[in-house]
Amino acid sequence: MNTHRFWLVVPAAGIGQRMQSSVPKQYLKLSGRFVLDVTLSRLLEAGPWAGCVVPLHGEDQWWALSGSASDRRIETCAGGDERVDSVIGALHHLSGRAGDRDWVLVHDVARPCIHPEDLARLRTELAGDAVGGLLASPVSDTIKQVETGADRIRATVDRRRLWRAFTPQMFRYGDLLPALETGVREHPGAITDEASAMELAGWQPRVVSGRTDNIKITVPEDLALAEFILARQDAG
Ligand code: C5P
Repeated sequence: MNTHRFWLVVPAAGIGQRMQSSVPKQYLKLSGRFVLDVTLSRLLEAGPWAGCVVPLHGEDQWWALSGSASDRRIETCAGGDERVDSVIGALHHLSGRAGDRDWVLVHDVARPCIHPEDLARLRTELAGDAVGGLLASPVSDTIKQVETGADRIRATVDRRRLWRAFTPQMFRYGDLLPALETGVREHPGAITDEASAMELAGWQPRVVSGRTDNIKITVPEDLALAEFILARQDAG
């Protein structure tokens, strides 16, 4: 029997430079609710969780206005300069409470369309795994490699081995924290998700096929798309 607990870390300390908005994307509205509130309520409903930590930017002015601020299941901590620094901060926040063999699921706050069935499948499929892994999806477009700093194609990449990495990403507390800390120290700029740190530490994380509607809000038009996806999911 697997008695290890599951913790949630939801990095929300980004200030978003691609949204053409002075408001960080997690505080833009989806059908009247903050993106952050939609993401957190979906995640928390899919528990049980041992706890949930949300790293926030030092100058965040919006958190107090969110529905999540009054949710006693959620704790906040200070975010860092990069996403990976925010996640490391959240893991330190859990120090002394999370066991080395406990699982941590890290999910970007900017992915509000995470489906409860995907979350459940990730947990079930990886619960007995030696390493852990992430939701991901095989690439369907033809992928081009372009000359650095130019718009000329150098090659067409064989897409049969390429997957798009989503979140949540699920790893053991005692493996993930040292992998992230070593990764940041030895490969600055290269740790764009938890799996990349685990890979650099010599592990082979598993990909668990996830829904392609688990989009990350990145540009303004993604908000309307996310509203559409959420409405379809709620109706289905
Ligand atoms: O900007 P991007 O979409 O790559 O950010 C991914 C996630 O990481 C978002 O949830 C964002 O709030 C979070 N983040 C963070 N701390 C940073 C930068 C980004 O928690 N310094």
